[in-house]
Amino acid sequence: MNEANLATPAAAANAEKVEAKIEVKLDAKQNLEVADDQVTVGQCFTDAPKMTMRNVNVFYDDKQAIHNVSIDIAQNEVIAMIGPSGCGKSTFLRSLNRMNDTVESCRVEGEICMDGEDLYAPKLDVVELRARVGMVFQKPNPFPKSIYDNVAYGPKIHGLADTRVDLDEIVENSLRRASLWDEVKERLHQSGTGLSGGQQQRLCIARAIAVSPEVILMDEPCSALDPIATAKIEELIEELSENFTIAIVTHSMQQAARVSHRTAYFHLGRLIEVNPTEQVFTMPEHELTEAYITGRFG
Ligand SMILES: Nc1ncnc2c1ncn2[C@@H]1O[C@H](COP(=O)(O)OP(=O)(O)OP(=O)(O)O)[C@@H](O)[C@H]1O
Ligand SMILES: [Mg+2]
Repeated sequence: MNEANLATPAAAANAEKVEAKIEVKLDAKQNLEVADDQVTVGQCFTDAPKMTMRNVNVFYDDKQAIHNVSIDIAQNEVIAMIGPSGCGKSTFLRSLNRMNDTVESCRVEGEICMDGEDLYAPKLDVVELRARVGMVFQKPNPFPKSIYDNVAYGPKIHGLADTRVDLDEIVENSLRRASLWDEVKERLHQSGTGLSGGQQQRLCIARAIAVSPEVILMDEPCSALDPIATAKIEELIEELSENFTIAIVTHSMQQAARVSHRTAYFHLGRLIEVNPTEQVFTMPEHELTEAYITGRFG
């Protein structure tokens, strides 16, 4: 709502009504925790999905962190996941490549498929899955190895290169696609941990790309970076979406607006709304989404 619009008494009264509606909803938000029939509004499903999630519930011991989430992620889509701290964004993201398997208390129920294949099938090779669905974390975490070895490690263990020349090519291509090659080509054999934070994050992206993933999950990949490094990663996300499907968790609504096609709003472990990003930030369908994006809480 822009201030000029509030100049007339009618507009001001209208704004008050909107405020009142949001207040009511916010008062009722405690109920959301127990509302088992909470339905996600908007466009959760797509025509040609890369990943399909149905009735996903995630628990840490008996505490439920994700309630009955159903959503598709389309091929070559960038989908942003937003919501207040603790609403379950990371938990949901990590369930998409079974990162949660490493948390002993964590239990995932429901269906999570990629190209129709059940990712929780007992026979599924989890190491291979994490190459197909790569992950970039909040804090850049290069291995304490050379820049070259950071990128070459995955292709080596997955047998993607027959010769040293093949491996060199994968390393160079991955670093180029991560927009890092020009900055590191003279120092490939120096340690990856000696790079700046933004360079380290691009190295981690190169490492994820090197094993030819189909999907890349990013959990607040820019939150430890300065604005220039952030802008570089955002530009990169746009380029990467030509070849990969990307799900990104972010606390920055500006970032979600800049990089994503659809935005998913989580609240207290529920998926409240999924819609095209522009709509979420201009005309959200759910009052809780509106309250969050207008800064009323979170
Ligand atoms: N390893 C864990 N063991 C127990 N509970 C956990 C664990 N990880 C997360 N939780 C709980 O699950 C809920 C969702 O947490 P999660 O980290 O997914 O939220 P988030 O939306 O990513 O938050 P943030 O924006 O702060 O990163 C929270 O209540 C959190 O305390
Ligand atoms: Mg998180």
